[in-house]
Amino acid sequence: MSLLILGIESSCDETGVALVRADAGKGVPVLLSHALHSQIEMHRAYGGVVPELASRDHIRRVLPLTEKVLADSGATLEQVDVVAFTRGPGLAGALLVGAGAACAMAAALDKPVLGVHHLEGHLLSPFLSEDPPEFPFVALLVSGGHTQLMRVDGVGQYAILGETIDDAAGEAFDKSAKLMGLPYPGGPVLSRLAEGGDAKAFKLPRPLLHSGDLDFSFAGLKTAVLTQAKKLGEELEARKADLAASTQAAIVEVLVKKTLAALQQTGMKRVVVAGGVGANRLLREQLDAACAQRKIRVHYPELHLCTDNGAMIAMAAAMRLQAGREQANKEYAFDVKPRWPLDTLQ
Ligand code: KG4
Ligand code: ZN
Repeated sequence: MSLLILGIESSCDETGVALVRADAGKGVPVLLSHALHSQIEMHRAYGGVVPELASRDHIRRVLPLTEKVLADSGATLEQVDVVAFTRGPGLAGALLVGAGAACAMAAALDKPVLGVHHLEGHLLSPFLSEDPPEFPFVALLVSGGHTQLMRVDGVGQYAILGETIDDAAGEAFDKSAKLMGLPYPGGPVLSRLAEGGDAKAFKLPRPLLHSGDLDFSFAGLKTAVLTQAKKLGEELEARKADLAASTQAAIVEVLVKKTLAALQQTGMKRVVVAGGVGANRLLREQLDAACAQRKIRVHYPELHLCTDNGAMIAMAAAMRLQAGREQANKEYAFDVKPRWPLDTLQ
């Protein structure tokens, strides 16, 4: 028997909807179609995400995107077996839109719902790639709000090996970019600018690189970038690519070295990178090179599925159901969890 699972993501500034088919028992679930609306243009004028505007825009987008996904896949709403949504973590108002839409749809159809952990979605998103990983593996989860190294033994079996004690890697990219006067969202803009810069031009700190544990800290780097930008003054404009390249090199070096340390500590030979920063080209290049030397397999989500999307939510729901970790239910009195540690999942 197979299940059609509709997934809705609305935790931050992207509305994503997708349809996945999962066969009972074994086999990696298959993505049938997905659609996304990014709010980047809308938030750009404010230099960052405005939560109230985000929620209102999710309301506008969620049903048209659902209609598109169904039309693209050739399925009807009545054929959907389970409606999954992002339950957290994320912006409370934004989460409530996806949860409300999912529960209303499911109630109208008399079908069960399933609330999904956003980071579990990122973590399992490489299973949507052509070359899916196998358990167990080390995961480097690098998004806008989280930076964690995890030991993943199976669906719902997550142990944190290390995490950031202040800013996330994505935040380090975004805040440094802002300090340099680059537009939101800073990460991809900074990394594109860095392509034409000299990564050795400025000496920036690699916080906690030699701390002996697997924790990260990026707040000090941001301060160093600010100090450097101030020192440059009017010269900043001409040296921006060099500063961007130096910043990116510092973030990537820490991420790569700590990931290698996690692999060594666990003795694992497989690593999965997930979350928005997983789209970073330098990170991919350096991690691939370091892991090739050590005969370690590296898996990434497809580039367009690194940042938030509905496919990863439908996929995580499908994998949880397949693994028997969860049962979808008809309790439509939904709640959301703006804060929700991943390692509390079962
Ligand atoms: O996973 P994600 O879409 O959202 C969260 O769940 O937080 O990650 C967004 C983060 C942002 O901080 C963004 O700047 C960063 O991922 N990002 C990148 C790149 N693409 C997205 N950072 C560095 N290089 C990129 N190419
Ligand atoms: Zn995300």
